[in-house]
Amino acid sequence: MKIAVYPGSFDPVTLGHVNIIERAAAIFDRVYVCVMVNSEKNPKFTQEERADMIRRSTAYLPNVVVETAEGLLVDYAESRGACAIVKGLRAVSDFDSEFQMALANKKLNPAIETMFLASSEKYTYLSSTVAREMAKYGADLSDSLPAEIIDEVSAKLKR
Ligand code: PNS
Repeated sequence: MKIAVYPGSFDPVTLGHVNIIERAAAIFDRVYVCVMVNSEKNPKFTQEERADMIRRSTAYLPNVVVETAEGLLVDYAESRGACAIVKGLRAVSDFDSEFQMALANKKLNPAIETMFLASSEKYTYLSSTVAREMAKYGADLSDSLPAEIIDEVSAKLKR
């Protein structure tokens, strides 16, 4: 069984993330989506809130499991029997930090590969930061966030 981990902050999950989850779920037998801690970020939603929003947004994908974890990504991946970490790449600007993280993870656990999926051009503009900014000012979120979480995100962030 080929297992992958798709890690991230997901603050909140966007349609761009869901697009990567769908595509990873078509390649791997099982995908663990894991809400992890990025020590450089101060999330607006708790880890459990973020995981719950991903669960509601991907409930139609039977081979996707959503969890939260602390600690190192490679330790989590190993504990789940994953052979790969999946990341989405939107643009050249993502590449430097993602490449560095991939090399650090390879150093920590050489048995786990990082695989990059090119973001769909439809979502290249999109990030959780952009979605939060749109929500704050009451913009239409239907092209940015899964329908299942728009009300929750708006209620929390709208001024
Ligand atoms: O969505 P993000 O914020 O780009 O996701 C980054 C994340 C959470 C995947 C990254 O910060 C991470 O892997 N955190 C767990 C700690 C870790 O393993 N760091 C990388 C090796 S030092």
